[in-house]
Amino acid sequence: MKVIIRDDPATSAKEAALQIAATFHNEPHGVLGVATGSSPHALYAALTALVADGLDLSGITVFALDEYVGLDPSHPQSYHSVIDRDVTVPLRLDPSQVFVPEGNVASAAHAAAAYDSAISEAGGILLQILGIGTNGHIGFNEPGSPRDSRTRVVRLAESTRTDNSRFFATPADVPSEAVSQGIGTISEALAIIVMANGSHKAEAVRDAIEGCVTEESPASLLQLHPDVTFYLDRDAASLLRLDDRARDGRDGEWSARMWCTGSSASMSS
Ligand code: F6R
Repeated sequence: MKVIIRDDPATSAKEAALQIAATFHNEPHGVLGVATGSSPHALYAALTALVADGLDLSGITVFALDEYVGLDPSHPQSYHSVIDRDVTVPLRLDPSQVFVPEGNVASAAHAAAAYDSAISEAGGILLQILGIGTNGHIGFNEPGSPRDSRTRVVRLAESTRTDNSRFFATPADVPSEAVSQGIGTISEALAIIVMANGSHKAEAVRDAIEGCVTEESPASLLQLHPDVTFYLDRDAASLLRLDDRARDGRDGEWSARMWCTGSSASMSS
């Protein structure tokens, strides 16, 4: 697990964008996994700048992590709309190669089951972009989600509905269910990058990187993955013991190791 801490979100976003550019320069027809929410905004802006400078992503396929159940795809806060606005259009992607889970109430469960097969048939995800919820969720895998879970309909935690109410007119408008890639699905990506900024993410980031590996803190399960990079600003990193070394003047990059004794997983440093 690699941890990159920078002074501000724009700087870490630029570095994450370069990682993505390098990956898809080598694999121009590879599959990228994308997240919605505010955490990857600066990353999509940085990627958009690279595309304007000549980066060609037109051959890639994209799979989104999740979608609300019960919002029409044309709703401005549906993840169909968000991905179109934040990813497909600015990155000049082929819309027929961009996939978002189906959130239609009647068919969501059936469509969710087919989503993992579609990812496999596309060749599997080369690089997955994640945000992290204040409760440690990844995708909409809330605390307690099984580590081998697949894409499915999930119930949102009340804290998640509250966090996301900023995107809706009233808190009651936030859907109570979503379709989300499972933790097992996400873990099959060859590489994962996690974007997190702000002090409100500091606890979740600490638990993910330095906490025990437990389904109660879904992002901690990323410690079991061989290729995860966290891109953090100082505030999101403020509760990490690693951050002490940043203050010593090192450049803000570490290989994290397992902090929680008693876990069966091993990690190199
Ligand atoms: C979004 C997603 C979520 C968000 C998380 C953080 O597709 O799956 O896990 O990444 O809720 O949201 P923001 O970035 O808005 O703080």
